[in-house]
Amino acid sequence: MSPAREWDGRSYDRISDFMEQLGREVLDRLALAGDETVLDAGCGSGRVTELLLARLPRGRVIGVDGSADMIAVAAERLPAGTELLVQDLTELDLGGRTVDAVLSTATFHWIADHDALFAALRRVLEPGGRLVAQCGGVGNVAGVHEAAAAVGERDPYAAHLRGWQGPWHFSTPEDAERRLRAAGFTDVRTSLLTRPARPPEPLEYLRTIVLGSHLERLPADLHEAYVRDVADVLAARDPEGVVTIDYVRLNLDATAA
Ligand SMILES: C[S@@+](CC[C@H](N)C(=O)[O-])C[C@H]1O[C@@H](n2cnc3c(N)ncnc32)[C@H](O)[C@@H]1O
Repeated sequence: MSPAREWDGRSYDRISDFMEQLGREVLDRLALAGDETVLDAGCGSGRVTELLLARLPRGRVIGVDGSADMIAVAAERLPAGTELLVQDLTELDLGGRTVDAVLSTATFHWIADHDALFAALRRVLEPGGRLVAQCGGVGNVAGVHEAAAAVGERDPYAAHLRGWQGPWHFSTPEDAERRLRAAGFTDVRTSLLTRPARPPEPLEYLRTIVLGSHLERLPADLHEAYVRDVADVLAARDPEGVVTIDYVRLNLDATAA
């Protein structure tokens, strides 16, 4: 299994307005009494975690993320004492403790093995506990990835990117439902949502978020040129000449059996 990649936490925190907006909508689906313990699975720099905490005046949050840099930025943002762990979610270990609910935003599609992921989340959930999540679903950023692959066929990128499939898992609703049930969830609902975005700072957005795994494969001196070349292809394809990220999100709601 490949380890979770490192992220630039400070850059992500600065440019993730759109992710926070999506995250607010996911959080609105999670009914809370205010005294629960909730796991934020893939908490990133903590912007959505902070909103979750505000809904738990008598409860607590455990934030888990695979990127140490994301967790460092989350630790600056969140109140002292908030529990934050650097862990791979497929090997999640809360030391035998359980949580009342799991929230996860914009994370599951970065993880290839959804069976291991859902089993790990089920293990830490109390029976009857809810999983409310959103991630990239089938078709997510397909246009951006197609442009990235086309640019990746050019020299000097081809030596590093040709034939590379990437770490992503963009699930169909049907497949996600089947895997959730197999992992021990009931009352499963899954659905797709199309939400294209036009980030105000497209180069940084591509560099930090969408093309982060591509850049890990490229030497550092090619990063800027590759991001710019992909942005140019995307802008050239857009009727208004603007970089558009073709987001398709998969909503997942389930209850631990
Ligand atoms: C796009 S960010 C989302 C952060 C936050 N949930 C939000 O909505 O803004 C995706 C996060 O998933 C984390 N991630 C990806 N794969 C992971 C894994 N296997 N285990 C833990 N975290 C992972 C990344 O480190 C990153 O912080």
